[in-house]
Parts: sequence; structure tokens; C-alpha cells
Amino acid sequence: MKKQNTISKLVNSTGLQHAGYLAVAKTRAKVLKAFAYVVPIRRPMLFVGESSCEDLCDMVINEGNTNVFIVTDAVLNKLGIPAKVTDYLDSKNISYKVYDGITPDPTFKVVEEGLRKSIDAKCDSIIAIGGGSVIDAAKMIAMSQGNNCKPKQLIGILKARKPSVPLYCIPTTAGTGSEATLGAVVSDDKTHQKALSIDPRMVPLAAAIDPIIMKGMPAHITADTGIDVLTHALEAWMSANASVETDYYAASAVKSVMQNLPLVYKDGGNLKAREEMGIAAHYGGVAFNKAGLGYVHAIAHQLGAYYSIPHGRANAIVLPYVLDVNRKGSKKRLAELARKTGMVKSGQANKSDAEIADHLIAQVRELIANLNIDPTVKGMQSSDFDNIAKAAAKEVSDTYAVPTYLSASEIKAILTKIQQASDEHASRNSRSDSKSDKVA
Ligand SMILES: [Fe+2]
Repeated sequence: MKKQNTISKLVNSTGLQHAGYLAVAKTRAKVLKAFAYVVPIRRPMLFVGESSCEDLCDMVINEGNTNVFIVTDAVLNKLGIPAKVTDYLDSKNISYKVYDGITPDPTFKVVEEGLRKSIDAKCDSIIAIGGGSVIDAAKMIAMSQGNNCKPKQLIGILKARKPSVPLYCIPTTAGTGSEATLGAVVSDDKTHQKALSIDPRMVPLAAAIDPIIMKGMPAHITADTGIDVLTHALEAWMSANASVETDYYAASAVKSVMQNLPLVYKDGGNLKAREEMGIAAHYGGVAFNKAGLGYVHAIAHQLGAYYSIPHGRANAIVLPYVLDVNRKGSKKRLAELARKTGMVKSGQANKSDAEIADHLIAQVRELIANLNIDPTVKGMQSSDFDNIAKAAAKEVSDTYAVPTYLSASEIKAILTKIQQASDEHASRNSRSDSKSDKVA
């Protein structure tokens, strides 16, 4: 608590105190970098394509598992999405139990219930079929079962003593990249504050990127989750802890999203583009697993907590403003990314880094606009901005290695711009509504 107050004071300050905040944040960033490069982080085996679910099931079976706990949510279960897996397991005479009780932003109660069911069914392995919430919950269930402990005991860094129960993932959205990462987020049952468990043993053994599983995703969710992928990749690219390895995955993901997200948004049945987006999401996860994220996520998490904005959409709302702020300090890196990913046309080759960085930022804005992502943040009020800025700055200080550190007033300036854009969009909508009423 004392530590939190100190950070809050430093965050909310200027001059010498802000210098104190910077020193704390930069030291933590160096510790995170050491952690990422000293502690080995395995990569899941990756199966890609229309038969990847079956390939993943074969791996589960070949590793000697005979009783699988399938973790999913009620909507996906009702749509029959797990059937591709359960039908195959039936054909191989493998026992399984389907648990569809995972809710968005799962709480400890939800995870504990899943853990209880998995233990009761004496399952020896877990297949998660779902988005980030399902996969995070499955990670916590698998790790708690493997360590014979309560999920709450795993909150923090390196809390597990034993491996998790063998965990395999089939993402149904191309977004979080959670099937590639070493972390899981669980919400407090009462406060809904998010708690993070980080452990390399949390990384699943394998993942299947199956475009058939993803093809039913509605266009607006495809757009939101796709911008989440782009944000992971851009923040990992701009991170002070980026490396040759993370750059490769981040740049590959950026290039793929810029090419494939518009295609899959227009035509959800474009299986090739779906598959490419699934791989991009995975690559984004691999990149930020080591390089970390930044202010876009730090502020977007608060928009989610305060105003219930879905994660991907919150990122889309915040991303252009943070890119603008980073433009000065990261222009060289952004220009390098634009050149690497083919965003620079032949006639622009001689332009300055600043001009090319601006061009990249303009293309990101254009993509978000073409995806018709709603910039409205209902209920946003400036009286919340102090607390939002403090929480976002604390998240950055605790977790990320950003290229440019912002003061509380700079974060509040971003929030003001978001509020203005939200108000302008709402008033434009109400004007066009009243016009169409008159026509009717
Ligand atoms: Fe994200």
C-alpha cells in the first residue's frame, strides 16, 4: 500500500518527482528485460490450417492423455464450435468432459469452479477452445491443478512450483495471442480489478490456428480483435526491450494485419485471410511476451474497467493518440517498421524518417476508420481522469518498457482527446438520426 502511494505521488507530479517516477519505471523495465531473456520461455507447438484441430488432438492422444477437460464458454458451446474437437475425440475413443462456464473477464470464482470440475472428472489434460478469456481461465485451471493449489496462490511472478496439467489451445478469435503467452489475467469477484499470474510454465504445449473455427466471428469482433493484434505488435516493436527476435514477430504481425484485416472484415469466409490473422495474433503474442506492451494497453485497460469498453475496441480508440505522442521519440523505429513492412511506396523512398512515421500513423488511422470502429466512450467524464492517469502510469511503471514516458498531464491530454472524439461522433450520429427521422 505504501509502495502504491509512493508511485501515485510520483506519477501525479512534475519536475524532480517525475524524474523519480522515471527512475523507478526504467529500473523495473531493465529487470523485466533481464527476466525475459534469462528465464527460458518455451514456444507452443503450432498447428495451422483446416485440419489443425485434428492434428492438435493427435498430439494430445500421442502424449498419452486419455481423459480431456475441454474448457470453453456457453456461446461457443451453443454454436457447436467444440464439436470439431469432440467428434474427433469420439472417433478415437478418448474420454472428455466439456465445461462451458467461462465468462468474459473470468473471475476467481469462475476459475475455481472450472478447477473443481476438472479435478472431479479426473481429467489428465486440458484443451481450451475460445478467446482470450477462455484461454486465460484454462491456463489458471491447468496450473492450479498441476500445483494442487488455489488460483489466487498463483497471482504474481513465478509462483508455481510444478508444471501445469498438459494444456493445448484452440483460439476462436485472432486477437489476444494468449495461446502464445506466459501470463493469465483473472478478475477479482467483487472489485473486478485484474490480477496477473506470470510463469513460463503457463505457456501451452501446443496451439491450433484453424480458420474454420474462426470463420463465424462477426465483423465488428473481427475488427476489434484485429486491432488488438496490431497494437500488440506495434507496442512490442516500439518497446525499449525489443530485440531482433521480437522485432521479427512484431513486424510480421504488423504486415499481416495491414494486408489481411481489411479482407477478413469484408468477407468473414475468406479462410486464407482468417488463417493469416490467426498466425499474426500468435506472432503478436510471441513478440509482446518478451518485449512487453505500452501506454495503449495501459490506458485501454482503464477504459475497459471504467466504461466497459471491449478490449480490442479500447485499443483502437487509444492507439492513434499514443502513436502521435510516440512519433517524436520513435520516428526512426516507426520509419524502419514502415520500410520493413512495405508501407512505403516506391516514390516515398527518399522521405525523412519523420515523414514516413507520419505516413505509418496515417495508415493505422485509415485502417481503424475503414473498420468502422465506434470511438464512443459512453459515460466518460473528466473527473475520472486523475485516477485513470495514475492507474495507467502505474501499469506502465510496473510492467512495460515504453520508448517515451508520459507525465500524468500528458496522459490526461490523451483522455481529453478521446472524450472530444467520442462527443463529436455522438453528436454527428444524433444529427444524422434526426435528419433521417425528418425524411421518414
Ligand atoms: Fe491486448
